Amino acid sequence: MREDVLFFLKDHPGYLSGEDIAARLKISRASIWKNIQELRNFGYHIDAVPHLGYRLASVPDKLYPWEVTHNLNTRFLGKHYEYHDTLDSTNEAAFRKALAHCPEGLVIAAEHQKKGRGRFNRVWESPKGKGLYFSFVLKPSLSPSEVSKLTLAVSVGCLRALSEVAELKCSVKWPNDILVQRRKLCGILTEIHSDQDTVHFVVVGVGINVHAAEKQLPENATSIFVETGRKILRQELFRKTLEEIESVYLLLIKEGFGAIRQEWCKSCSLWGKRIRVQRLHTAIEGQALDIDAEGSLIIRTDFGLLEKVLSGDIATLEA
Ligand code: BTN
Repeated sequence: MREDVLFFLKDHPGYLSGEDIAARLKISRASIWKNIQELRNFGYHIDAVPHLGYRLASVPDKLYPWEVTHNLNTRFLGKHYEYHDTLDSTNEAAFRKALAHCPEGLVIAAEHQKKGRGRFNRVWESPKGKGLYFSFVLKPSLSPSEVSKLTLAVSVGCLRALSEVAELKCSVKWPNDILVQRRKLCGILTEIHSDQDTVHFVVVGVGINVHAAEKQLPENATSIFVETGRKILRQELFRKTLEEIESVYLLLIKEGFGAIRQEWCKSCSLWGKRIRVQRLHTAIEGQALDIDAEGSLIIRTDFGLLEKVLSGDIATLEA
């Protein structure tokens, strides 16, 4: 009911009399008033002018379920959606749901994370309302070694959404950091549950710095606000990101990694550069050359050997 009133106001910019809304939605005027009050409590600014009626003046920058999922153009991603004000970590919450057999495509988002985490157990700073922090559950027919392609596909989806909504041209740093210049804007954390040959499920977590100011960000990080000076509506970026991620994911599943490899490679900032790959106990240095059909990074080491890197943390050693 509350949502009916909201979407009616959204569909009819300008003033609408309580009488008209009541007639169109087939509810009483008292009920319209009650719903308008509720919407105001959620942060919607609704002007009310005698003899003119109601007008939706502004929408809060919140990831409310009705804002995110209404007319979301996806087949399965976000069809089940959980929204939280605060969570320890959306990845942790999604992993728990997946262990309890939640449907594929469940998305969990939070306005704030107390223990947001990144790759290599790093902290992902998640100040309230300043970013997108969300995770989703996939159940792909891939072997565990193929899951890295999925992470690359998710980064392509994020790149597309950032370009469309924020008009930001970003680059990717293998495997899945999204950067502006050399500063990190978005990170992706993929966690899998599998046995030796079969993936049971994958939880992908995405963190995007949206409104954070320079001083709220870790060193070497940036945000859409810092880069563009604009405060976009996070719900708009979120919806587009989900739509693009699903579209790239379906392409990956249907046509294989070849269908997205070129797009990923075109956005990669590493080609030809000297890099250092930090692995668990060792590090290698060399020149970044390419990614192979599995999504592994190929580098020419300083000894002239071609090495395939399956995982690791990359630092560029030159500008
Ligand atoms: C990285 O770059 O190291 C990955 C960062 C991933 C952060 C996101 S925010 C939403 C989700 N929940 C988490 O705890 N982490 C991911």
